[in-house]
Parts: sequence; C-alpha cells; structure tokens
Amino acid sequence: MTDQPHKTLEWIGESRTGHLRLLDQTKLPSETVFLDCDTLDAVWGAIKRLSVRGAPAIGVSAAYGVIVGMQSSADLSREQFDANLEEVAQYLATSRPTAVNLFWALDRMTAFAASRSDLSAADILTELLEEARRIDREDQEMCLAIGQHGAALLPDDCGVLTHCNAGGLATAGDGTALSVFFAAHRQGKKLHVYADETRPLLQGSRLTAWELQQRQIPVTVICDSVAGWVMKQGRIQAVVTGADRIAANGDAANKIGTYAVAQLAHAHGIPFYIAAPSSTFDLSLSSGEEIPIEERDREEVVNAYGLATAPEGVDVFNPAFDVTPAKLITAIITERGVIDEISRDHVAAHLQAVPS
Ligand code: MRU
Repeated sequence: MTDQPHKTLEWIGESRTGHLRLLDQTKLPSETVFLDCDTLDAVWGAIKRLSVRGAPAIGVSAAYGVIVGMQSSADLSREQFDANLEEVAQYLATSRPTAVNLFWALDRMTAFAASRSDLSAADILTELLEEARRIDREDQEMCLAIGQHGAALLPDDCGVLTHCNAGGLATAGDGTALSVFFAAHRQGKKLHVYADETRPLLQGSRLTAWELQQRQIPVTVICDSVAGWVMKQGRIQAVVTGADRIAANGDAANKIGTYAVAQLAHAHGIPFYIAAPSSTFDLSLSSGEEIPIEERDREEVVNAYGLATAPEGVDVFNPAFDVTPAKLITAIITERGVIDEISRDHVAAHLQAVPS
C-alpha cells in the first residue's frame, strides 16, 4: 500500500508469541536498525525515547503494545484479563502526553475488548490483535487519502516548507504532510521541499530529508532560523505540517517551532496547511490552551549528540510542542477532505459528515 522503503512498525507473529518490530528512528539516518519489542516496558521505552514517534505511529504502536502487554494474561479468567488490560492501557498512556492518537488508540482497544465480553481471555487476545491490525491498515488508508486531498491544494512548480517529520516514519503509511508531497509528485507536479531541521532532535534533517531523498523528491535542509528568509525570498508557496492534537476550535499542537513558522507564513501571505487524520482531533478540548504540552529532558538541548552546546548547569526550557491558533491555519487536510474555513462548527461538521 505504501512505497515506504522500510517498515516504520510491524507486528511479527501470532497474538500469544508475536512482538512489535520498530525501525529505530533515533539511529536514522546513519544506521537502519530494527528494534524487536517483546515486553511492555520495551514498547513504552521506545515511545518515550522517540524510537517510534509521530502522532499516528505512536497510536498504532500503542495498539500493538497492548497485545505485547496482555500476552501473559491469555490464560487468566476474563475478569482478570480485563483488569490487567486496564492497567496495561493506563501504563502505555503515560509514555507521552501530547499526541492524542496514543489515547485514541488505547481507548479503541479497551472499548473493543469491552464490546466482546462474551469471549475468553485467549480469544479476546486474538481479536484484539485483529483490532490493532485494523488500526494499522486504516492509518495507511488515511495517509493515502490525505495525500490525494492535499495534493490538489499545491500549485505546479512550487516550493513547500515543512517542519519536523510528518512522513511515513510518523505513521503506519505514507505520512500526512509528506503524503501530500508524495501524491503531488506522483501526479507529476514539480515541487521542491524545504525541510526545517527541527531542533533539538532534528526530525526534519534526519528523518524528513531521508524520506524525501529515498523517493527522489528535491529537498533542501534549512536551519529553523532560515524559514522566514526563504519565505521572504519567494521560494515558498505553501507550508504543510502535521499535528499531534487538534482542539475543537481548530487550534493545532505540533512540534515546537510550528507556531513560529505559521506566524512567518501569515506575515508573508503564504498558505499554512495542517495535514492530519481524524484520530488527531480531540473534540473534548475546547481550544488549544487545554492541550498538554510535553516538556523533555534538558540534555536534548545542551548535549543532544554527545557534544556540549551550552555551558554546564545553564537553565533550559525544552517544550516538545507548541500550539498554532486556528486563525493562522489556512486549511486542515484530513482523510475526509479539506476544512477550508477553520471554526468550531466547520470542524464538527467535517468530522460528523459521512466520508465520500
Ligand atoms: O516529538 P515527535 O517527533 O513525536 O513529534 C512529531 C510531530 O510533531 C509531527 O509533526 C506530528 O506528530 C505529526 S506526524 C504525522
């Protein structure tokens, strides 16, 4: 279904004995190493340290993580299985706070188990693996649909800018923002991608540039501080990023730095698009102010790659995400189509409409 050269995540084997295999993104682009996660702690740790990252990929990995965590409960009573399932889901939910796809996938797994209370522990484990596989497949389909809808928004022969990595590495399929570029490229549109390097962990230069190179799409890596200047030079005709959580009013959390890029796009009259599946919306939150923002270890800023980049003991603020207010977003591209007027009513109507 996807042209992705390496599988970002994959379930290997049966429900009772299988495991989750992840492409370890902390090692890219210099090494292509796979991580076999066969314990609950291994899955939790892989999400926490960003071996697997990107909102949809975190959700799909957590769904498979539930299977890993429940394998030892397959011979218990159904009552005990359900109690353990609750604990496993709660534990996985503590791995990262911002991407709502994590909680969405865990809720979907526990709700599915609750809907099949007639099954034994062994049988529900098998069925839960099928549910995780469905989440995986649906994510792949959503990526392709997002690509199709988004590609129509890009003019031919354009420069586009993206921040962080919202590609195949961030999903089970072709990505969200990058899927838009892949689809435009497949349609024969000429485009040149500017990839913000995305400090502190360089998802843009390490991962986005790697993915685009593999697909032979022209890409130029820029330091985050260069974004405004390439816009000023007329090199950028559209900005497309992913999102980790979108509130009911359309405010969207994404990798730290996205807010600044959206402001810059606004100042230069350049359309700013968010590409995200419907599993990234959190309608329980009225606005972006309620989105929990992860703060990560200071070491990522002062000593990320084994080299001190700040004086010892200096104070550090390291939020992993920021929130772009809806008024700066030109349109949100989902698998259902395009929300081109961002308001509470339009978001609700878009998510309720039966997809075409
Ligand atoms: O900290 P990360 O690398 O998980 O952050 C990822 C992002 O911010 C992505 O842009 C977002 O999850 C969308 S991925 C399709």
